[in-house]
Amino acid sequence: MENRRVLPTWALIMVVFSFVILPSLPAGAYTILTPPTGKKLLVRARRGAASLVIRAADNGERRSLQVGRVTGRQGTIEPLVPAGSWQKDGSYYVHYELSLKKGINTFVIKPGDKKVIVRYRSQPTMPPFGSSDSGLYLFHRNEVVPAACSGCHDRKLSADSGLEMKELEKNSNFSPVCFSCHRRLVNGNKWLHGPSANLDCLACHRRGEGNKKLAVPTGRVPNICYRCHVNERKWKSKAYIHGPIRIGDCTVCHDPHGASYKFELWADPKTGLCVACHTDKRQSVEKTPGFHRHGIVVGSGCGACHDPHASDYPFQLYKPINKLCAGCHLRLQGVTSGHPVGGHPLSGKPDPRHKGRELSCASCHNPHGSNYQYLLIGSPLGGNVCTKCHH
Ligand code: HEC
Ligand code: HEC
Ligand code: HEC
Ligand code: HEC
Ligand code: HEC
Ligand code: HEC
Ligand code: HEC
Ligand code: HEC
Ligand code: HEC
Ligand code: HEC
Repeated sequence: MENRRVLPTWALIMVVFSFVILPSLPAGAYTILTPPTGKKLLVRARRGAASLVIRAADNGERRSLQVGRVTGRQGTIEPLVPAGSWQKDGSYYVHYELSLKKGINTFVIKPGDKKVIVRYRSQPTMPPFGSSDSGLYLFHRNEVVPAACSGCHDRKLSADSGLEMKELEKNSNFSPVCFSCHRRLVNGNKWLHGPSANLDCLACHRRGEGNKKLAVPTGRVPNICYRCHVNERKWKSKAYIHGPIRIGDCTVCHDPHGASYKFELWADPKTGLCVACHTDKRQSVEKTPGFHRHGIVVGSGCGACHDPHASDYPFQLYKPINKLCAGCHLRLQGVTSGHPVGGHPLSGKPDPRHKGRELSCASCHNPHGSNYQYLLIGSPLGGNVCTKCHH
């Protein structure tokens, strides 16, 4: 079907005809194609955005349309500007992008005062996509491309998409259809994941059988990821596997589409990523008065010592603790006793403070920082370190 921005003659005749013969249309005869109105919708997503598409029967109706966000106690209405308006078979398809804030968002459509009410729960850490939530709004619950959207959202790309069509066409999964609605998911990200950049959306998203529901992979997608990242399967056989990897949650850190940080991470691994979950380590990366941070955490982040995925050593460390520390603190390399006082063992004895563990550098120093000088477990003055173990 052809899309026209210009009114064809027959449509004009129809407009004049209906004007003369039929009673004028009641206010608000437009159709809200998506999202559903009248009930509260729940949106759980990384990005706080939803699309509102309205079909206006004619140009007059298009012009009289007003969409606004209801704000404040007084219910002030902030008008919204359409993202675009396109014509097909004489009707106008007016597109709006609704930006969602955490909590309840109310939008009103005039004439007719119809309401779109959305409760938005932002999910910056991308936990599993729980489609079992009651009231969760899923656009593709029944169809991939509803009839109301087809004819325009088909195998085509706009010229300004910046993508080389011929190159992409070679790919059997190439999905420009998805891109025509979801371009913001891909464009505008600094780091793009290979298959998403190639619009290979169906490498991960599947059309279901029967009801054609578009399967949304849950957050636990190791099988999807390992299908291409075969070398990473070795993580599963390591002795120490990071919690999220153990349960197959790759997307709590990586956005499978694209993100602001290298490796498609949604936060900076030097500062925000790890402490988003390990909140008790926040002051290790954020400057706090009176707290001594470990120079290396400031400079290189948690990844200086821990593998984010898996390793052969406890706490997913790259090496056993003393080797790890002495790898940078060269003065203590190979030293097994004599620090901090003559003859003091550094390994091979049970650590009185940590049941089941051996004495190590981390017995007296906190690698994540401390309130005391030299990252010690107590003040070095007055023997407060020594009394933690010796009475
Ligand atoms: C006609 C436009 C359109 C097309 C084509 C389209 N989508 Fe969507 N999709 C939407 C809208 C609208 C939403 C709801 C979120 C929003 O409002 O932005 C959505 C939501 C989703 C979601 C979240 C779960 C859900 O069902 O709401 C996934 C996953 C998704 N789309 C993937 C895809 C993939 C993959 C394709 C290609 C096979 C595709 N979409 C094609 C419009 C479209
Ligand atoms: C009359 C044709 C037409 C119809 C029908 C239509 N659209 Fe669109 N839509 C477009 C065009 C054209 C664009 C802009 C594409 C571009 O810029 O590459 C667009 C863009 C979009 C976008 C992306 C907006 C953005 O800026 O990122 C979404 C989402 C979307 N449409 C959803 C829908 C949904 C959902 C339906 C059905 C309820 C629908 N559209 C029906 C023509 C149409
Ligand atoms: C490498 C696998 C993979 C590819 C490729 C992929 N997706 Fe996704 N997508 C996912 C997973 C997994 C989720 C579930 C949410 C999550 O855990 O991040 C998801 C969620 C979504 C959502 C919901 C977004 C939200 O904010 O929660 C949309 C929309 C979507 N995908 C569209 C697309 C489109 C369009 C493409 C192609 C340009 C695409 N996806 C390519 C794996 C993928
Ligand atoms: C269809 C195959 C495919 C699937 C499925 C897939 N990836 Fe990828 N992934 C790639 C390709 C191709 C690259 C790009 C490699 C490159 O450019 O160096 C890539 C790159 C990456 C990178 C960046 C690596 C680097 O060295 O830059 C990360 C991180 C990543 N993928 C994570 C994931 C996660 C997490 C999943 C599951 C949600 C996943 N991938 C699923 C094919 C895939
Ligand atoms: C706790 C957060 C986190 C989780 C969960 C996570 N990753 Fe990563 N991933 C990272 C970080 C951080 C890096 C960057 C490592 C670096 O700087 O060397 C990375 C890098 C990567 C890379 C590229 C470099 C490399 O080491 O191979 C791939 C591929 C990758 N991850 C795949 C995955 C897959 C597949 C999963 C799920 C099984 C996963 N990741 C789960 C944080 C995570
Ligand atoms: C999405 C949440 C999440 C993020 C992000 C995250 N972790 Fe974890 N981490 C966990 C969970 C869950 C566990 C497992 C806790 C358990 O088993 O009791 C864990 C455990 C750990 C452990 C302790 C293992 C042990 O044996 O006690 C270390 C070390 C660790 N994470 C380091 C990191 C580092 C480094 C990063 C950043 C690259 C990071 N985590 C990011 C959720 C997260
Ligand atoms: C200088 C190396 C080093 C750096 C950098 C580092 N850690 Fe650790 N981490 C360790 C060592 C050694 C242990 C085990 C000894 C202990 O109990 O402190 C550990 C243990 C942990 C544990 C499990 C025990 C606990 O204290 O909860 C978590 C979780 C953890 N680290 C998270 C992080 C996070 C998050 C960061 C970044 C803010 C980070 N680590 C940076 C060396 C490091
Ligand atoms: C990747 C390199 C690296 C690793 C591994 C490392 N450190 Fe550090 N450490 C540093 C840097 C860099 C500084 C900051 C030096 C400075 O400020 O002069 C530092 C500072 C310290 C200080 C404070 C020194 C002072 O004079 O105030 C102590 C104590 C310390 N580290 C102990 C440890 C322990 C214990 C471990 C093992 C759990 C460890 N470090 C692992 C690089 C590292
Ligand atoms: C039994 C407790 C204890 C153990 C175990 C220990 N330290 Fe220390 N460390 C101290 C004390 C106390 C100081 C305070 C300075 C002093 O009195 O010499 C110190 C100071 C330091 C300093 C800063 C001053 C300097 O000498 O450069 C570094 C770096 C350091 N230790 C690294 C390590 C490393 C690496 C290990 C493991 C190989 C380790 N420590 C094991 C108690 C300990
Ligand atoms: C984390 C616990 C811990 C802390 C803190 C600690 N020690 Fe020890 N210390 C030990 C252990 C364990 C031994 C070995 C006991 C054994 O041999 O059974 C030991 C042994 C010693 C010995 C005997 C060494 C030898 O030659 O046999 C002396 C002396 C000593 N500590 C002094 C100190 C002093 C001084 C401090 C404070 C700067 C200190 N310790 C802090 C755990 C600790």
